[in-house]
Amino acid sequence: MTTETLPEIGSIEPNRHGYRSFALGRFTFERDEYFAHITWPQGRHLMPVDAFLKALQRDIAWGFFYGIVNFDGVVGTINHYGTVDLFAGRFSDHYRRAGLDYSENFKTPLIQRVFEAMLEDWTNSTFDPFASPAETGSAFGPKNGSNKRAITRHRVTAKRMIGCPGDEPRRSDEAGFPINRHFRDVRQDEPEVKAEPGFEDQVVAFNLFAYLSRSDVTWNPSVVSVCKASLYCPTTEEYILPVIHGNDRVEWFVQLSDEIHWEVEDRDTGAVRARVVMKAGDVAAMPADIRHRGFSPKRSMLLVWENASPDLPALYASGKMPPTPVQF
Ligand code: PHB
Ligand code: FE
Repeated sequence: MTTETLPEIGSIEPNRHGYRSFALGRFTFERDEYFAHITWPQGRHLMPVDAFLKALQRDIAWGFFYGIVNFDGVVGTINHYGTVDLFAGRFSDHYRRAGLDYSENFKTPLIQRVFEAMLEDWTNSTFDPFASPAETGSAFGPKNGSNKRAITRHRVTAKRMIGCPGDEPRRSDEAGFPINRHFRDVRQDEPEVKAEPGFEDQVVAFNLFAYLSRSDVTWNPSVVSVCKASLYCPTTEEYILPVIHGNDRVEWFVQLSDEIHWEVEDRDTGAVRARVVMKAGDVAAMPADIRHRGFSPKRSMLLVWENASPDLPALYASGKMPPTPVQF
């Protein structure tokens, strides 16, 4: 079969499994029934395609996120906020010492476009990359339709605190999402607000637990309040965080329900630094020089508190700010 390649987007002719192939700079991407195959000038790698699509989905939906999104221990992206590095082996001591690491920088709209085209072509009708394993079908097999509705969900971002006049979007219960099977015990009543006379339109409250109990996605924070650079990003978690996140700033976690186990590693070498078990009510500050991956045995609620200030990465990278908020 002859394969015609568009310079930026990928092959027009599908391979024998029905999937298109893609190229970005000197990286190539191919999928078969079980795996995503990635090559770069000095090496090649494969990932189970379900894990690959779950990571790809989040990298796209989060606009390449804060700092580093490792799809696994080898391949991932670094956000430079305007451009993005695609890398292989860059954060593995062993790949680096063997000279097998590689990275290339792309303008954000280009890598975004290729990633979106790959996600759309490689996601079958049976698979929802945002869903928990118990709530989606298979990612595997030859090409079988598409699932555009699932993959074009964006991280929900409020314009004001949810409940304030002019908040966007509307609350998920109003959008008609059902209560998740693991959150049937979560009370759905709304708080009673008794404002001082004259402040009635300034004091609002809503039931965050009820809101989260109806989330239909996992490991996908929504921004529910914005106060200058301070973003409250609660999310519901089940099974494994599909990316290993390398921080470029401190992130705070407040475990709102149930339990998550975190593996915390050195961001640059992957050396193990800590295993943290967070139970309901626990609060942790994840340092600016680590990478982490969470494991949630049942669906749980987590508040991720981000400082979105654009000045932070340079302050940490230059050592002007210590990597932890408290020095012991
Ligand atoms: C994180 O990398 O800190 C993170 C990402 C997504 C989540 C939770 C935590 O759902
Ligand atoms: Fe993180």
